Amino acid sequence: MNQADQSLSSKQVSRRAFLAGTGGFVAGAALGSRLFSAVGLAAPAQADVPEWPWPYVPLDPEAVRRKGYEACKSINNCMYGGAEGILNELREKVGHPFTLIPSDMFRYGAGGIVGWGTVCGALNGAAAVMSLVTPQEACFPLVNELMGWYCETALPTAKSNAYGQPLAQSVSGSPLCHVSVSKWCDASGIAFGTPEQAERCARLTGDVCAKAVELLNAHAAGKFVPAYTAPASVAECMSCHGPEGMFDTIGNMDCLGCHEPH
Ligand code: HEC
Ligand code: HEC
Repeated sequence: MNQADQSLSSKQVSRRAFLAGTGGFVAGAALGSRLFSAVGLAAPAQADVPEWPWPYVPLDPEAVRRKGYEACKSINNCMYGGAEGILNELREKVGHPFTLIPSDMFRYGAGGIVGWGTVCGALNGAAAVMSLVTPQEACFPLVNELMGWYCETALPTAKSNAYGQPLAQSVSGSPLCHVSVSKWCDASGIAFGTPEQAERCARLTGDVCAKAVELLNAHAAGKFVPAYTAPASVAECMSCHGPEGMFDTIGNMDCLGCHEPH
């Protein structure tokens, strides 16, 4: 950013911060950068970056559902969509500091990280934003809930499925892209790489953004109550393989998705 851009964005920031009533820190930073530029020096960039966690304001889940869907669809990239759906709304409702984050940094997560089919990119992107706006002790239970909801819910939901011709729904039972998309291809009879599959993943991305925001809103209101319980196999298998036993593995995914009982 050159100096002119920087002082321009600082002015926008101070006006927005004033309107949003987000307190004196940002306005102070803007004043600081004007003083620096008055004496011909570049303001220290870090003055504009508040401490983590960044301020969250309750958002409209339907607005982010639509934005997550559209962002994913725009470049066919689920992690980009999962982050951008929420960040875009935060940029509009809060402005700075969310204007600092380019969602392009989340492109790597497409297809479960560059097509490896590991964690669903929509989850990865939405969880990144959750981690930006909540302290870790709040974030982990919230993301746990999002992961569990993803595994158990028929996706795309009726809400995102109303964005066009309804598509087949499927329950993944797993947060893995590979499992999620394969089960949908099986349920729908539609192959990967088709426009319908891209549409399904975009709708699912919108749904994940909306759920993430519902969880963040509940947390912000002091009303978050964890509802997810892991499949019975996890407690059962982990009684021997977890911390109380041999502790030779770790995880919360349904063990029976990949292993036979013994
Ligand atoms: C009563 C205790 C107990 C429970 C419950 C249990 N396991 Fe095991 N499991 C063992 C023991 C003991 C071994 C052998 C460990 C070794 O050889 O190092 C083992 C081995 C394994 C192995 C390695 C198998 C191999 O061929 O080496 C896997 C995978 C495994 N268990 C998965 C599971 C899963 C999944 C569940 C739940 C469905 C489960 N276990 C429940 C005790 C248990
Ligand atoms: C996405 C598939 C997947 C899921 C879900 C999964 N595992 Fe595994 N697990 C594997 C693979 C692959 C290995 C490595 C190959 C092997 O040993 O079977 C492994 C290895 C293990 C081992 C070590 C086996 C050994 O050789 O010593 C244990 C124990 C184990 N898993 C238990 C569990 C338990 C308990 C759960 C549920 C909490 C679980 N796994 C969930 C795929 C999975």
